Amino acid sequence: MNVGGKLKEAGKQWVKEDPEKREVYWPTDEMKEKAYFSDERIYTQASKDPEGFWAEQAKKFIDWFEVWDADKIVELEPPYFNWFAGNKTNLCYNCLDRHLDEHRNKAAIIWEPEPVDEVQKVLTYMDLYREVNKFANVLKGLGVKKGSTVTVWMPMIPETAIVALACQRIGAWHSIVYTAFAPHAVRERMQDAGSKILITVDGFYRRGKLIGLKKRIDEAQVLEKVGAENCVVVSRVNGGVPMKEGRDYYFDELMRGAEAYCEPETITSEDCSFLLYTSGTTGKPKAVMHSCGAYSVGVALTMKLVFDLHPEDLFWSTADIGWITGHSYGLYGPLLAGATVLWYEGAPDYPTPSRWWEIIEKYGVTIFYTAPTAIRALRAAGDKWVEGYDFSSLRLLASVGEPIDPDTWKWFYEKIGERRCPLVDTYWQTETGGILLSSLPGIGPFIPGVAGPALPGVNYDILDETGEPVKEGEFGYLVVKSPFAPSMLRGMYKKPEEYIAEYWSEYGTEIYFAGDGGIKIGQKIGGQPLIKITGRIDDVMEVAGHRLGTAEIEDAVNELEEVVEVAVVGKPHAIKGEVPALFVVLKRGVEVPKEEMDRKIVVAVREKVGPVATPEAVFYVSDVPNTESGKIIRRFLKGLVRNEALGDMTTARNPECLKELAEATKYRGPQKIPGYNLSAV
Ligand code: WTA
Repeated sequence: MNVGGKLKEAGKQWVKEDPEKREVYWPTDEMKEKAYFSDERIYTQASKDPEGFWAEQAKKFIDWFEVWDADKIVELEPPYFNWFAGNKTNLCYNCLDRHLDEHRNKAAIIWEPEPVDEVQKVLTYMDLYREVNKFANVLKGLGVKKGSTVTVWMPMIPETAIVALACQRIGAWHSIVYTAFAPHAVRERMQDAGSKILITVDGFYRRGKLIGLKKRIDEAQVLEKVGAENCVVVSRVNGGVPMKEGRDYYFDELMRGAEAYCEPETITSEDCSFLLYTSGTTGKPKAVMHSCGAYSVGVALTMKLVFDLHPEDLFWSTADIGWITGHSYGLYGPLLAGATVLWYEGAPDYPTPSRWWEIIEKYGVTIFYTAPTAIRALRAAGDKWVEGYDFSSLRLLASVGEPIDPDTWKWFYEKIGERRCPLVDTYWQTETGGILLSSLPGIGPFIPGVAGPALPGVNYDILDETGEPVKEGEFGYLVVKSPFAPSMLRGMYKKPEEYIAEYWSEYGTEIYFAGDGGIKIGQKIGGQPLIKITGRIDDVMEVAGHRLGTAEIEDAVNELEEVVEVAVVGKPHAIKGEVPALFVVLKRGVEVPKEEMDRKIVVAVREKVGPVATPEAVFYVSDVPNTESGKIIRRFLKGLVRNEALGDMTTARNPECLKELAEATKYRGPQKIPGYNLSAV
């Protein structure tokens, strides 16, 4: 087995816990009776014939213009795989058109604006259908075609759903950029994708502040720099932003003259349905490519399997549309299921830390999907903000984005779920498109801190450095094996080498390497081992549930003239899970006061990457540990900020610098560092 470089670098960073102390919860009788899936034999049935299992789901959940070739449920050409080869369909058609007979006047999206004095909006399936058709025609009128990339920098407002679905309708690829990234990030992504059109808003509200997106695009001259042909501006706040004649148009103006119907384009198994930029271990963000039909199958099935979504449910996923969770479970999943989804524009704690609980009570949310970091923050605000709210509508809670610690799990389960609602911990990634690992609400078990088994039909394992499956209780690396899962990525836009380097080089081209560590806890359900996810083992951070690459932050700081070298690692944080910690080596003779240098660094990161990546700790040091070939040994830096073992020090060219680093970070970990006296701290 040719094991690649990441594993050698990673080290074994996890804390062993006592299995005896684990609490195990099971579904209530009520949940078991209601749930679509309550028989654990589904696991064995699916694992006997995963292809057959997926093909059956595909027929059940998606309307096809043409089905796949019978002998090609999945075509494997490692490291590529093509599910349902030869299929033809359309994601927008599946989300809207096919529901009109039954659900024409049912709410598709209920939208809650952040300002409390503004009224909510409800879009029925028919409303959404009408608007999407019109905007699809608008896009065509602006020259957007099948395979064009439409960059979208928009918040959680209904128009964002309209834009995304309109792209799907005509086969254009949306590339949605998170609004807490910087205009510079929009520019990079437009350039990379060769996108000539940006859809944005005049502004939106976040924590009571007006965030002017179009103004920021203009200030950074993004449209000029990428040679954009068009910019469509949704007027969310009647902001009256400057518009360039012939290039910039208001959404409403264009919609007024638009034709009412647009034929949905035929999208084949070879086509891409959207791009989503994500952070990996090297350099710039890269665009994951998702398919149409196969992606839809994975997402649609998990809505029933993991979320047990019934027609009368009100589903709320709090993730922003700029992330994969916003795509798969804030938009496409619920609409594929013909359900009602809630969208909220603003911050969880505005105007008070009760806002989310108020929303759950106000609308009667039944399924609530959120991230551990948000729960930790709302919990830290104090239990008084939760008390007195009516949570009786809730029947299922779900978590995503990072490992949820047992303490937070229990608080969420008790205070919000009132010990009635199962809490499913869903593990997946931008690359996997849909959930791969989670307990199922009607089957269980629900164990704080343990994600659960792989979903039926998903061939998962945890391997050691040599490629052998680990024993129970041992740490290893999560992988997906053939035939993979239908919702998984089809490649990386214009970067085939990075696609291989990132996922298919640790264990070869037939095993997908996820970049996360995990442990089989020694308990099974339906013959499947339950898995605890320990988190990333590479240079990717999860900051407040947001995936960020250390390299992007390093690039931004390296551009400062005072800086010789910078290394970024994730430092544990009580609420955000991790925060970026920077080790900075300044040029000799630089005499900028620390506060001033801190400020410069923060500004550089906010401008190049965005506020989401703001550093929380900066250590100024005279050197960082390198290998002989000059590669920074991050394992040491991670160990220092996490107070964990640093591992073998003989690989460092300059181990003497560890003493200074240990002093700077006040290291209290288990390893002795020559010259550094732990007890002096
Ligand atoms: C982490 C988010 C532990 C993991 C859907 C993964 C999790 C990365 C969980 C992907 C979970 C996601 N438990 N860790 N339940 N869910 N992760 O691409 O490290 O933004 O690799 O997708 O989030 O982040 P991404």
